[in-house]
Amino acid sequence: MGTLIKGGTVVSSTTSTPADVLIEGEKIARVAPLIDATGHTVVDASGMLVLPGGIDVHTHLDMPFGGTVSADDYEWGTRAAAIGGTTTIIDFALQSMGHPMSEAYATWRAKSEGKACIDYALHMAVTDLGPNDIWLDEVDAMVAEGISSFKIFMAYPNVLMVNDATIFKLMQRTAKLGALVCVHAENGTVIDVVVQQALAAGNTGPLYHALTRPAVAEAEAVHRVVALSQLAGGARVYIVHVSCQEAMLEVAAARANGLRVTGETCPQYLVLSLEGNMGKPGFEDAKFVFTPPLREKKNQAPLWQALRDNVLQVVSTDHCPFRFADQKTLGQDSFTKIPNGGPGIENRMQLLYHYGVNAGRISLQRFVELTAEAPAKIFGMFPKKGIVAAGSDADLLLWDPAAKYTITAATQNMHTDYSIYEGIQVKGNARQVFSRGESIVDGGRFVGHVGRGRYLHREVAAQ
Ligand code: URP
Ligand code: ZN
Ligand code: ZN
Repeated sequence: MGTLIKGGTVVSSTTSTPADVLIEGEKIARVAPLIDATGHTVVDASGMLVLPGGIDVHTHLDMPFGGTVSADDYEWGTRAAAIGGTTTIIDFALQSMGHPMSEAYATWRAKSEGKACIDYALHMAVTDLGPNDIWLDEVDAMVAEGISSFKIFMAYPNVLMVNDATIFKLMQRTAKLGALVCVHAENGTVIDVVVQQALAAGNTGPLYHALTRPAVAEAEAVHRVVALSQLAGGARVYIVHVSCQEAMLEVAAARANGLRVTGETCPQYLVLSLEGNMGKPGFEDAKFVFTPPLREKKNQAPLWQALRDNVLQVVSTDHCPFRFADQKTLGQDSFTKIPNGGPGIENRMQLLYHYGVNAGRISLQRFVELTAEAPAKIFGMFPKKGIVAAGSDADLLLWDPAAKYTITAATQNMHTDYSIYEGIQVKGNARQVFSRGESIVDGGRFVGHVGRGRYLHREVAAQ
């Protein structure tokens, strides 16, 4: 006896087919037209799209940052993700300087244990190779633990930033293993000079966070890290949160040269803009202080084009929530003290569907590819995750293309007291969400149990 999803349209990156889906236990047993319902519990999916559960590969739950801790822990963050149609996340274990990666791994496993509502994996954010590079060997150990991607920050000097030597050595190791290096690409050293000059001129308000981080500083870092990956013997690189045309063109050039470079952008860069959402009186702009900052609106069309052209392969959120009332206000006297990050884990699928599919900017198939299939492939989870097919985990969404929903902090599940998308009305939303065969969201309500999410051991991917 299984669960039969009947009468929906099953979507993959290449097809859109009327078909039934039979779930047995945690797996998809069959995808075929008109499966006999005898003995099965039937879920009526007529009028629904049956999509693979979303995969968000860039989240920061329960993360110490900017003098505080991100406002969603593993329970709240993954619950909000599930309600928005995401059934897998990859979060970051953050190595503390002076401490081994294994310690960060243990810390983040403990943070998530008994809390996660959906399946999750970890990247290792590398900040320190240790005395005589002793912790470089941990890269192999982490891959053995299922961490097949590593994160480096080229920004945030004295906090998370690593120098080119560290990047190069890490890449030499990952190139041998086939592991992936995810990169926050911004020239942190130069940005720091511009920041100090702004402060010296008395420009301390939140808008100056954006004005001191030019697009060229992002593009320069992408260019440099791509060169380092070449020097290191062809390391696989994934550029996170590409926010502007200049940086995107560097990714495009690398790919045109046949290099193993992939990348993502995030809804905030596709939907919001510097002139549209910042420049408000008082401290309001602090709600939009994340890094890279909001860019001029003219960047949005090139980013959409990059998603269509496969210059960028993934849309993630970079969900790093902080409350306005008591966390963002840490930077009331200086934008440098505003915790960097914004909430979004709940809204990624809605926003990309509405502004992408409904607006004719991307096809339905590309939507599935950007939100589920490509992340699964790039990050070593395919075909367990990322596709509605026999043998895969039964992570799937009944997506109602006609459902209207207004995004607002008043009803959201993320634990922030504001939404960067406040008042936006979207059409298209998850009606029911299955995770490993279990219905965990029904009609916008989480109906699973806390702690059911499992740690995912990821393989080294081929892409
Ligand atoms: O502002 C952001 N994005 N905060 C999270 C850390 C990062 O840079 O991804
Ligand atoms: Zn970043
Ligand atoms: Zn991030």
